[in-house]
Amino acid sequence: MINNKYSIFNGKNIILGITGSIAAYKALLLIRELVKLGANVFPVLTPSATHFVTPLSAGNLSKQNVILDMFDINIQFGGAWHINLVHSCDMMVIAPCTASTLGKIANGICDNSLVTLATALTSDIPLLIAPAMDTSMYLNPSTQKNLTILQNNGAIIIPPDKGELSSGLVGEGRLPEIPVLLDYIETYLFLSKTEQNLANKLKTKLRNKKILITAGPTYEKIDDVRFIGNYSSGRMGYSLAAVGSILGADVHLVSGPTSLKMHHNVETSYVENSDDMYEIVVDSFPEVDIAILSAAVADFKPFEKIKGKIKKEKTEKLTLELIQTKDILKKLGTLKKNQILVGFALEEEDNGLKNAWRKMTSKGADMIVLNFLDKQESGFQTENNTITILNFQSDDVMNINTYETMSKNLCSVVIYSEISNLLK
Ligand code: CTP
Repeated sequence: MINNKYSIFNGKNIILGITGSIAAYKALLLIRELVKLGANVFPVLTPSATHFVTPLSAGNLSKQNVILDMFDINIQFGGAWHINLVHSCDMMVIAPCTASTLGKIANGICDNSLVTLATALTSDIPLLIAPAMDTSMYLNPSTQKNLTILQNNGAIIIPPDKGELSSGLVGEGRLPEIPVLLDYIETYLFLSKTEQNLANKLKTKLRNKKILITAGPTYEKIDDVRFIGNYSSGRMGYSLAAVGSILGADVHLVSGPTSLKMHHNVETSYVENSDDMYEIVVDSFPEVDIAILSAAVADFKPFEKIKGKIKKEKTEKLTLELIQTKDILKKLGTLKKNQILVGFALEEEDNGLKNAWRKMTSKGADMIVLNFLDKQESGFQTENNTITILNFQSDDVMNINTYETMSKNLCSVVIYSEISNLLK
């Protein structure tokens, strides 16, 4: 059974390596967030890192001794400090990681504390590396070669963002924002040694699978300035896309209007209304292995769109004629061959299960993720989610699993775990 505790960070021991990059200041923010979430963070700084951030800041924020010099007499606890520390940790994260540190770890050059720890890690402890440097250094063949070596050795590389760099140039090489780093850390903590069997099964089953995901609301235009929409934030669908990509799948996200940004390696199509979402999703469906329709598609749209702006002086009472939008999930149900088709259902607690079951059968879905609109921490606009998953065990036996409240990322892991049970 899956661990349902949504505060996966709680009590976890994380070694945070900081190297000499201008992005090192973000590592301080990362320490603060991880500590707030309940993790114990052990900062280790390379000598160059100390030119960018001070050990005092890292120590204050983490409330731990900061490791600098590996021969410092104060850290020689237990005989072999590096071996002791890696054996008691759940994960090591290096953010930001410079080209030079990448090269040293890839080649086992243990001339500082950080590289020594990274080299001493055993293979069951995740090593997450977030490279951050100028584009030309990132794209340099030696950096790319070292990244490949590290990846082949089992390290998880968090791809850098594209954007403005401290040099003033624009390109690949920015350290991703804190929420993205937390996404990776949370997912890999979950997939770390405590749930190793589940993690291995998920990664094996989802690697290179093509997954299509819809997310967010749709806006159906009334006139050129007004629309019919809903409160969906898109967070659940974005999380499914991010976690799917972390698990090695090839993800295509079709997103309605949201304020979210997709930082992961996910092909993203942006749409506004249900007709555009319908077109892309129906077109892409034959090529995919799994489709997860988490978007809160508007059920109705204006029969006619009015050009310009409806003026209130001329309109004392306004009646809009609405028609149903095309049901994307139902259409995919009719096109389905070997794909796994997953829908969402937002229901009130009374009759929720019955309605979700009806939706699953009438729309031809293999699985429904049920949220309750009258339950706290479930459905729209929440950080966490409380889900019940329905699927068919066989033609006439239905599986129903109700989970505790979890972060949306952990809900995603659980949803993929249930999907992987349906994959042949
Ligand atoms: N859905 C869809 N296209 C629509 C409406 C809904 O693909 N035009 C999908 C949603 O993405 C979700 C599932 O259908 O996966 C169920 O959506 P929900 O709004 O709960 O159900 P509806 O069928 O719209 O019925 P109702 O709103 O009456 O409960």
